[in-house]
Amino acid sequence: MLIERSAPGKVILCGEHSVVYGEPAIAAPVSTLRAIATIAATETALKRGLRLIAADLEESLYLGEAPATHPLAAIVRQVLNHLGGPPAPNAILTVRSALPIAGGLGSGAAISVAAARALAAYLGHELSPETVSALAYEVERLHHGTPSGIDNTVIAHERPVYFVKGSAPELFTIAAPFTLLIANSGIAASTREAVAGVRRRYEAAPTEYVARFARMGALAQAAREALTQGQWATLGPLLDENHALLQAIGVSLPALDRLVEAARQAGALGAKLTGAGGGGNVIALVTPETAGEVCLALEKAGAHQVWQTTVG
Ligand code: PMV
Repeated sequence: MLIERSAPGKVILCGEHSVVYGEPAIAAPVSTLRAIATIAATETALKRGLRLIAADLEESLYLGEAPATHPLAAIVRQVLNHLGGPPAPNAILTVRSALPIAGGLGSGAAISVAAARALAAYLGHELSPETVSALAYEVERLHHGTPSGIDNTVIAHERPVYFVKGSAPELFTIAAPFTLLIANSGIAASTREAVAGVRRRYEAAPTEYVARFARMGALAQAAREALTQGQWATLGPLLDENHALLQAIGVSLPALDRLVEAARQAGALGAKLTGAGGGGNVIALVTPETAGEVCLALEKAGAHQVWQTTVG
């Protein structure tokens, strides 16, 4: 028996960081860039339990020897616990991902969701999006300390989401598909460090930061409006303003600003960094007509990879 399950990446369209402070944020799945988990019975005579393989990292270990903080072991333990504690099967669980690691595209949550679904299916269970999101959230906590929960939510549901920390996520429908370019700066970034840096600066100047977060929240609300009505010309400037606010809270980098500027110059309707910042990826809202030109401009401005994806 071989079972395969997958999960998409995600982009935050508006509201990263401010979401940690209770403001709304908007995220959408990136269905073309996925994490994939397969699980199959082991053929070796040595039945040592569940073997975990992270193919991209060329890492292989048995569940029994994995520390509590190992993210793949952690999601497996979450699933087994959720299912009432069955023994881990004698099998090989392999994960791989098209998503850059530490790039703000939800690679960690996508691997957790894919792995949880594959293991549960192998044991005869299908997990609901709510359940798999909650299990993946526990692993996100290992990576990030105090994550808002937006990544696991949008990835588990694979739907655009209007997200307020601590409230039930509001899934919504986008009026018509739109095209995004995702450009990888090639700079790996730690979400934990970016979030901690914002916290320090917020504590030093709370009034200014609260005002910035509130404005980001207002942009997220306006973005939801634009998305549900298909007003791409309105959405673009919202992304631009969100990027300026992310610069103001200190999470952009010259390399990211260059990509954003190049995309706008080449005709993107709007562009911003996405995710925690300090590296990672930028997104550019384009039309099918401008996509080629903007893609070239992003590559010229230093993007390591550019992906085109349709959202909605
Ligand atoms: O995992 P990333 O890089 O997409 O960052 C998540 C977004 C933050 O708002 C920066 C953190 C959070 O927990 O929401």
